[in-house]
Amino acid sequence: RPDGGPAVRRLADWDRETLEELAAEHGTPLYAFDPARVRENCRRLHGAFPGADIQYAAKAHTARRTLKAVHDEGLGIESASAGEVRRALDAGIPGADVTYTAVNPPAQDLDAVVAAWRSHPDLTITAGAADTIDRLAERGFDGRLRLRVNPGVGAGHHEKVVTGGHPKFGVALDRAPDLAARAAEAFEFAGIHAHAGSGISGEDLADHRELVRRMGELARELEADGIPVETVDVGGGFGVPYREDAPPLDLDAVAEATREALGEVDATLAIEPGRYVVADAGVLLTRVNTVKEALGTVVAGVDAGMTTLLRPAMYDAYHAVRNLGGDTSGREQVGVTVAGPVCETADLLCENRPLPRPERGDLLTVGNAGAYGYEMASTYNSRPRPAEVTVDGDLLRRRETLADVSRLDAPGESSRRSDE
Ligand code: LLP
Repeated sequence: RPDGGPAVRRLADWDRETLEELAAEHGTPLYAFDPARVRENCRRLHGAFPGADIQYAAKAHTARRTLKAVHDEGLGIESASAGEVRRALDAGIPGADVTYTAVNPPAQDLDAVVAAWRSHPDLTITAGAADTIDRLAERGFDGRLRLRVNPGVGAGHHEKVVTGGHPKFGVALDRAPDLAARAAEAFEFAGIHAHAGSGISGEDLADHRELVRRMGELARELEADGIPVETVDVGGGFGVPYREDAPPLDLDAVAEATREALGEVDATLAIEPGRYVVADAGVLLTRVNTVKEALGTVVAGVDAGMTTLLRPAMYDAYHAVRNLGGDTSGREQVGVTVAGPVCETADLLCENRPLPRPERGDLLTVGNAGAYGYEMASTYNSRPRPAEVTVDGDLLRRRETLADVSRLDAPGESSRRSDE
């Protein structure tokens, strides 16, 4: 599969000069993104899962260019909200290639998606509760519906991203046949869905296999009850190596385990990878503005923090860090804590990491920032969100300005004097 590229792209594989130029031109913090790598990742997925319906989980990276690239590569778009559905349709993705996975959907989301369905009647909605099914019917929806099942088994890189087995998601396996029968009566029943969690590694393969096995069993049970199952969607979650020395996920092994565990079904296999498609297509660039030594570590203060890349603060996630600054070859390796500008102790990109001794002005790159990086950025501490550009220098999302910070505030209050 020459066009699928290497199985993994490490931080050292990014062209240093390109990154330095981007940072000089666009400023930092800056997300740099490579749509060509997205395409390679899509092709490797197709190679491992031939014939499968592959839906890109848009929440990992929603830039319009990404949605278009993955769709060009033959993937559908799995959306987690009305906003993501809108992004997909605005990008020109046909409704037939868009699914909406409703999790406790707010009324506004159901209203908007049902309205979108009226003009795109081929789109698919995945419901994970009897209430959602009722609320869709109340809105006159009778289109394509998938039933989200909780198979009672899950996996993931952190407890906060394990979905299978958590009561929040999907309907219990033993309730599924009843609800599927109801769905088949009221809607165009489009199959069953489950998602184990996010960041599944080779070690989690047994859990993934068990989830798929239970889904295969359910599909056969429904078929036996006279309910045809168009698709068995076993979710996303394929992990990527965040540590530079960790091996990539063996996608072929995952695919083989999936097919074997699914068994004979008269249905199309669907998967919903997000992270795998975009993680190694993006890096974060951040500039060192402060260097100090304190309590046994060297602290490198940088302009990116938890508002730029939340994953380390939220999941203690490891991201590789490389110092591109000048000539670092002669510098000694020291333990470096990379700390952002937010007034929270959790605002660290890494702690006590062996790195060349940092100097003010150094440019750092943070790896695997393409998935859940920009997407989870916030404006906490009234920090404008960063810009995101492609490696060719095209703007994906402009940098927010200080004027943007207060743009949602109600007008007038600033003129009211506090002593009135
Ligand atoms: N399908 C469903 C229904 C999902 O909820 C998710 C992710 C995916 C597919 C895609 O999972 P992936 O292939 O990207 O692992 N913010 C966290 C990840 C949360 C994932 C939530 N759901 C992180 O940065 O690790």
